[in-house]
Amino acid sequence: MSRTLISKLPDVGTTIFTVMSQLANDTGAINLAQGFPSFEPPTALTDRISYHLNHGANQYAPMAGIPALRAAIAEKTLRLQGRAVDMDSEITVCTGATEGLFSAIQAVVHRGDEVIIIDPAYDSYEPAITLAGGITRHVPLLIADNGHDFGMDWQRLSDTISDKTRLIVTNFPHNPTGAILTADDLDQLAEIVRDTNCLLLSDEVYEHIVFDGEQHRSFSSHEELWERSLVVASFGKTFNATGWKLGYCVAPAALSVEFRKVHQFTTFSVSTPMQHGVADFLASDPDFYAKLPAFYQQKRDHFCSLLEESGFRFKPARSTFFQIVDYGDVSQENDFALAKRWTREIGVASIPLSVFSSTPFTGTRLRFCFAKADATLEDAARRLCRL
Ligand SMILES: Cc1ncc(COP(=O)(O)O)c(C=O)c1O
Repeated sequence: MSRTLISKLPDVGTTIFTVMSQLANDTGAINLAQGFPSFEPPTALTDRISYHLNHGANQYAPMAGIPALRAAIAEKTLRLQGRAVDMDSEITVCTGATEGLFSAIQAVVHRGDEVIIIDPAYDSYEPAITLAGGITRHVPLLIADNGHDFGMDWQRLSDTISDKTRLIVTNFPHNPTGAILTADDLDQLAEIVRDTNCLLLSDEVYEHIVFDGEQHRSFSSHEELWERSLVVASFGKTFNATGWKLGYCVAPAALSVEFRKVHQFTTFSVSTPMQHGVADFLASDPDFYAKLPAFYQQKRDHFCSLLEESGFRFKPARSTFFQIVDYGDVSQENDFALAKRWTREIGVASIPLSVFSSTPFTGTRLRFCFAKADATLEDAARRLCRL
């Protein structure tokens, strides 16, 4: 090679999810690290996908997604968030939320634009911003004095916005802390961005996993926020099918036009039989989502009750399928080193919180995924309680 290869992402290595899952595989540890359920998707859904695989739905789907699936997404958005969206111009089916987030960022961020992300942040945001030539600004979540309640620091967000800020990326229900936003939070955000040029990218992949009777409030539900929002979601979490990589982006027509310009050259269209299968399933069981909170709340409660015997401090998660614990009474070791050591020595893999954050946010915290069979959670908790 006559020219040196200059990396466009010099600081990016292998994601922590791959690192910890690999370590769990190599050591035979219980993998409570990567966020995937150990349950199968509903049979009624996989049956419909098999049907379409065997009945000719095997060529390119339309670029924006098949009409039946976009109609199901529009129906749900109206029913759950009160937002009437036009399925032809405001909904795009994409290859998992990851592609939706990437395409959204490439579509609206220009070289030199600033983009604010909230720490701890899902790890795909910043590389996508960097590839678009944007500059990432980090705003940490607020941690209440008890060390267990997490929420938006609206003042800090407001102070971080400048005339260069093009986009704010949020993720509520929040991975990894389980924080959620209230109606009042959405009003505060609307007030902060009202006189700015900021667009909003709302990652809502855990929209259906919210506990204790609380409600997820999508940016699509808010009159003012909606006008400047791209809302990205995923069927992976909803249907216990993270390997299918099926998601969507809902955004006002003007934003969707730009989103689609990138989407059509990132992937063009998404697996056809999958889309037909999901559309059929949602037509037969449109309220499937309503069953998820109770199912995962039972998992959360079971895992938390097992951890009562441990030396960890924690408060049950308000959403998602992750539980944060503070291990400070058990060890003061660095979280990454400890997560690796406990994977090898105790046989339970977790995710260290510091990897989600470039601001000094995290202290002695680990994230455990409780989307697992009860027996797996019991085995893991037994090992953790011995510490
Ligand atoms: C916050 C968040 N956003 C996006 C994704 C990616 O979703 P998908 O698998 O649909 O690409 C995940 C997956 O874990 C996530 O936790």
